[in-house]
Amino acid sequence: MKNHYISEYLKLKCSGQLQELFSQSSNPWKEVTESMSAYKNVKEFIDVKDGSITNIFIGDGSLCLTGALFSFITKGQSVSIDPKINMNKVAEWQSREKVKRLLKIDSKFQNIPLPWDPIKKSNCNLILVHAHVNLEELVSHFPNWNMLFTNPCCNPFEQTFSVQFQKENDISVLRAGYDKFNLSPKNMVFVYKNNKSEGKKPYQLDKECVNNGGRKRLEKR
Ligand SMILES: C[S@@+](CC[C@H](N)C(=O)[O-])C[C@H]1O[C@@H](n2cnc3c(N)ncnc32)[C@H](O)[C@@H]1O
Repeated sequence: MKNHYISEYLKLKCSGQLQELFSQSSNPWKEVTESMSAYKNVKEFIDVKDGSITNIFIGDGSLCLTGALFSFITKGQSVSIDPKINMNKVAEWQSREKVKRLLKIDSKFQNIPLPWDPIKKSNCNLILVHAHVNLEELVSHFPNWNMLFTNPCCNPFEQTFSVQFQKENDISVLRAGYDKFNLSPKNMVFVYKNNKSEGKKPYQLDKECVNNGGRKRLEKR
């Protein structure tokens, strides 16, 4: 069967560079379609050419695959947050391939202290591919998000917003459905918009933060 996402991925100029990361995952073809699905489902809702946008990937796995893909195909800053990130492996790849716009934080999102400026004050997008996190807890922690993509897996009720939570928090659904090109059996996707963030300026990560991997600020607390 022809897979549209795999064909598009292979046509990307960066696919050779990314392949070194994707090939280390247990199921590369599936992972490619999951990350491409995130991109394809959000690209009409974010300005992929805007360098001031911060896309935050929660539960991005040990190899930060979706954050890595976005760091090539969007102009924004990618931030991958997952306690299981293999920092050495991803850092070696970044330095070999000169990948600058990918910041990685090997921590649970709950351990990022709330006055952490890049996320607390910013308008950012939250992107979750099979992330084992509770969405309502996540947005309580990072309230200044614009758009949120989720591809739920094991616990869809926690990995999506309840209708009541949407109403109470002025959240709209931009997209909900199954993505047949995402080759995971868990291929339900949702895109939400935080109406409260409308009109706020997007946040730009500062250089110090990018250079020290966000760690200095975390360690200060
Ligand atoms: C099923 S894996 C998905 C990994 C990757 N996104 C993928 O699709 O291959 C779920 C990930 O969520 C991460 N995770 C669980 N709790 C988390 C938390 N509180 N903050 C950040 N990441 C978390 C886990 O460490 C794990 O890597």
